[in-house]
Amino acid sequence: MTDKKTDDAVVVPTGLRKGLTNYGDTGFSLFLRKAFIKGAGYTDDALDRTIVGIINTGSGYNPCHGNAPQLIEAVKRGVMLAGGLAIDFPTISIGESFSTPTSMYLRNLMSMDTEEMIRAQPMDAVVLIGGCDKTVPAQLMGAASANIPTVQLITGSMLTGGHRGVRVGACTDCRRYWGQYRGQEIDEAEIVEVNSKLVASVGTCSVMGTASTMACIGEALGIVMPGGATPPAVTSDRMRIAELTGKQAVEMARTGLTPDKILTPKAFENALRVLLAIGGSTNGIVHLTAIAGRMGYDIDLEAFDRMSRETPVLVDLKPSGQHYMEDLHRAGGLQTVLRELRPLLHLDALTVTGRTLGEELDDVPAFTQDVVRSVKDPIYPYGGIAFLRGSLAPEGAIIKQSAADATLMEHEGRAVVFENSEDLARRLDDPDLDVNADDILVLKNIGPIGAPGMPEAGYLPIPKKLARAGVKDMVRISDGRMSGTAAGTIVLHVTPEAALGGPLALVQSGDRIRLSVSERSIDLLVAEDELERRRAALVLPTPKNAERGYRKLFFEQITQADKGCDFDFLRPPTMQGRIPTRND
Ligand code: FES
Repeated sequence: MTDKKTDDAVVVPTGLRKGLTNYGDTGFSLFLRKAFIKGAGYTDDALDRTIVGIINTGSGYNPCHGNAPQLIEAVKRGVMLAGGLAIDFPTISIGESFSTPTSMYLRNLMSMDTEEMIRAQPMDAVVLIGGCDKTVPAQLMGAASANIPTVQLITGSMLTGGHRGVRVGACTDCRRYWGQYRGQEIDEAEIVEVNSKLVASVGTCSVMGTASTMACIGEALGIVMPGGATPPAVTSDRMRIAELTGKQAVEMARTGLTPDKILTPKAFENALRVLLAIGGSTNGIVHLTAIAGRMGYDIDLEAFDRMSRETPVLVDLKPSGQHYMEDLHRAGGLQTVLRELRPLLHLDALTVTGRTLGEELDDVPAFTQDVVRSVKDPIYPYGGIAFLRGSLAPEGAIIKQSAADATLMEHEGRAVVFENSEDLARRLDDPDLDVNADDILVLKNIGPIGAPGMPEAGYLPIPKKLARAGVKDMVRISDGRMSGTAAGTIVLHVTPEAALGGPLALVQSGDRIRLSVSERSIDLLVAEDELERRRAALVLPTPKNAERGYRKLFFEQITQADKGCDFDFLRPPTMQGRIPTRND
């Protein structure tokens, strides 16, 4: 591949000549680089091609990426078919249930790894292979900042399994069976038995959890190949998408189609629309905020809420509905959803194919299916997520209204407060805990700083004694997150968090709290002078083991949920505006 000339005749190195190691002599740097890589058997012809880097996030600790070797092989095939040279390289991989204290704590580290390894190594385009919850946002954040031609390849969802004649899949059913076990509806033998049935293959969670949500968001943003969000991990469709991804990456290197041309305000607006219409994970809004932040845009959560009032949930998938990801794929995948949403989308947004979203949708066939509803006959009349504000959350909070109990969405109750996760673990199942079904469970100090890393602990279990009495849902409030696979009347991302001294820190057991989803409000019904007294006596928790290393950086730089929990120094110094712009 010959080097490119810019308009003002500056020669931009390409391929192996990009980003030479600094030895003070560029000719020698290239000579040395070629000498070393020839040790792996490459010819000069191969080394003179367009180079596509493939980020390999395969890891024994990440079964959600268990098909990475096959995907890499298929991407390489696509790159070679298009005349390029594919070189794979590793970055951090984050498996959701294998990361302590929580995968979110590591997302920004992975994004930094992604950005810097894209920058440091010679490549004309990059394919990001990701799937498990935090990997796709981390990769998109890093690639957005690096800004070379990029395609995101999703690993794909796992297959569903079967347990005693019932179809099951991770991880909505994991929570359902665990709830039944806690409520003594199933015994020890059955919980052990179902543990082997819930995950039937490698791949990401089989419901509309965070991984599936981020896959759909990627396609809606135009950074995933059209049709690339939903093929399950172990299918031929997934491998074909991988091959096409490799081919397209070479084409993008040729045309210079960089993320800044794709990840525009219109693309983010489309993605917000899709997040609402798929009944997507509440984590999706945090990750989208972080990715948009890298491009210089803040998400206007009030305007997002107005979008929610006009964007119904169309996808009948767990946890909001009944189907699984493989069913959505058979129903035409995200493209069926996008076709239904067409009047609400910016059809002129560009995709990785170089064509607009509208042009891509023109080719999508319509057929009868029962997974994606029409706008006239939705699963839920409003968007999946509602944005709340009030005296308990001055900077906001969210609720996944499509997965909540309709009878609890207008509710006033007595607070039963847990100071942190340890306190919750210690007292929740105490038979003497003073708690009733219409109380509101409050968990403090699981925010971005408090835990740290804002763990998915916002899905507080129903206290055992109530679960055994048949209680299935209660209003639960925290400054943490919740898995996209969970359901319930759960208020999350309360901002500012308790560890920063937000009003959540002042709540005491016995206080009254009022939730009104219709009014988009969450209020602590305590007199201001009493709150002032509590504020004066408040002692904030000190971060533990934060004297050095990544943990020190994390505590110093982490932003709140309304800024995507990105590190402050990773966002651009000057922001360009707010998204969505349409409702301003
Ligand atoms: Fe990896 Fe759910 S645990 S996607």
